[in-house]
Amino acid sequence: MRDVIIACDFKNKEDLFNFLKPFKGMNPYLKIGMEIFYKEGPELVRELKKEGFKIFLDLKLHDIPNTVEKAMRNIGELGVEITNVHAEGGIKMMEAARRGLDSTELGKNTKLIAVTILTSISQEVLENELLIKEPLNEVVRKYANNAKEAGLQGVVCSALEAPIIKEMGLISVTPGIRFQDDSVNDQKRVATPAFAKELGSTYIVVGRSITQAEDPVKAYNRCVKEFC
Ligand code: C5P
Repeated sequence: MRDVIIACDFKNKEDLFNFLKPFKGMNPYLKIGMEIFYKEGPELVRELKKEGFKIFLDLKLHDIPNTVEKAMRNIGELGVEITNVHAEGGIKMMEAARRGLDSTELGKNTKLIAVTILTSISQEVLENELLIKEPLNEVVRKYANNAKEAGLQGVVCSALEAPIIKEMGLISVTPGIRFQDDSVNDQKRVATPAFAKELGSTYIVVGRSITQAEDPVKAYNRCVKEFC
């Protein structure tokens, strides 16, 4: 069940397909995010599914329950393996999202996960801008619990939080992955694929360590070897 997901942070379809050429026949798991989705639309997802890629559609929905339910119905029809919402939308919104997926034949099999607190939000921002006085870790734990209560399958979190999430019976999708010999870039809380495995991550999301590598296929295979 453990798998490596490549974060496809490309500006358009041409760049993505050029990147994917050497992966022919391997069909890795791909994370399609807002940048390329808002450029290319759902047609790109249909095309990738047709070619046999597994997709984590990372669109982080956050709106009133009715709107999210209807949007999720459209996402359900794409038949992606994983998609997500912000836990900040509350339990009713997360339930509505699950309902939206379940109302389509393909969407029933889509795993729905929640973003708890974005890693770009610090304790200081939480307190001074969002007026949330609890410790950040507690907020993450509470939001993960809400996701579970709403019938979601898991959360996006740092690999360092994977043990708590596993204990809760949820899957964890963990970005911030670097090889021992990589530069960390803007990521703060990083883990190697091997350490993420030890911590109990279900899926690791790897961007630049694969996409910017001299030999992306070799880097991907290294991730699989360490993690799976
Ligand atoms: O290049 P890198 O491996 O840092 O890419 C990580 C991917 O995971 C990016 O697509 C980034 O947006 C995403 N992500 C993250 N941290 C989160 C949530 C998503 O790095 N908390």
